[in-house]
Amino acid sequence: MGITYENNISAEDCAKLRASAGWREVHPDQLRAGLRSSAFIVAAQDGGSTVGMARLIYDGGYVAFIVDVLVLPQYQGRGIGKAMMERVLRNLRDRLKDGYTIQVDLMSAKGKEGFYEKFGFVKRPDNVYGCGMTQRLEKKGRA
Ligand SMILES: CC(C)(COP(=O)(O)OP(=O)(O)OC[C@H]1O[C@@H](n2cnc3c(N)ncnc32)[C@H](O)[C@@H]1OP(=O)(O)O)[C@@H](O)C(=O)NCCC(=O)NCCS
Repeated sequence: MGITYENNISAEDCAKLRASAGWREVHPDQLRAGLRSSAFIVAAQDGGSTVGMARLIYDGGYVAFIVDVLVLPQYQGRGIGKAMMERVLRNLRDRLKDGYTIQVDLMSAKGKEGFYEKFGFVKRPDNVYGCGMTQRLEKKGRA
């Protein structure tokens, strides 16, 4: 059987996918809360194992943010990332009513901008937009 797409993912699988990309470890409580509060999740499955994910944060109104777009290294380059992005964007488009606009933002990892451009995202800054900006708030302590 080929790759299938589910709309949920365990915190453990999410943590594994994030680790596969070398991303920072998230406190398990925060990971579970983040997944629970997501507006939409896509998880790519091969047999019983999760090989990719994408996650949508949406305020229910006019602002959305796409995060945790990840495919296991050995599954990259097979159209899985594309299939997940298409599902996330379709989910968002399905929420549009006449006269509605939703601003969809994301933070591209270095070198992945071309992947997102294929779905209509534009790099910032450009003639219209300034830079996207970011910081991390942290409280030191044991997880
Ligand atoms: C970025 C990522 C999700 C892409 O997933 P993928 O399954 O390998 O991508 P796909 O095979 O679906 O590729 C879809 C299209 O994007 C293109 N593409 C993929 N990675 C690209 C890149 N880094 N730059 C430009 N184009 C890229 C492919 O060539 C393909 O083009 P086509 O449709 O014209 O054939 C995957 O490489 C990944 O998980 N990387 C590590 C984690 C990461 O950095 N995620 C991004 C977080 S912001």
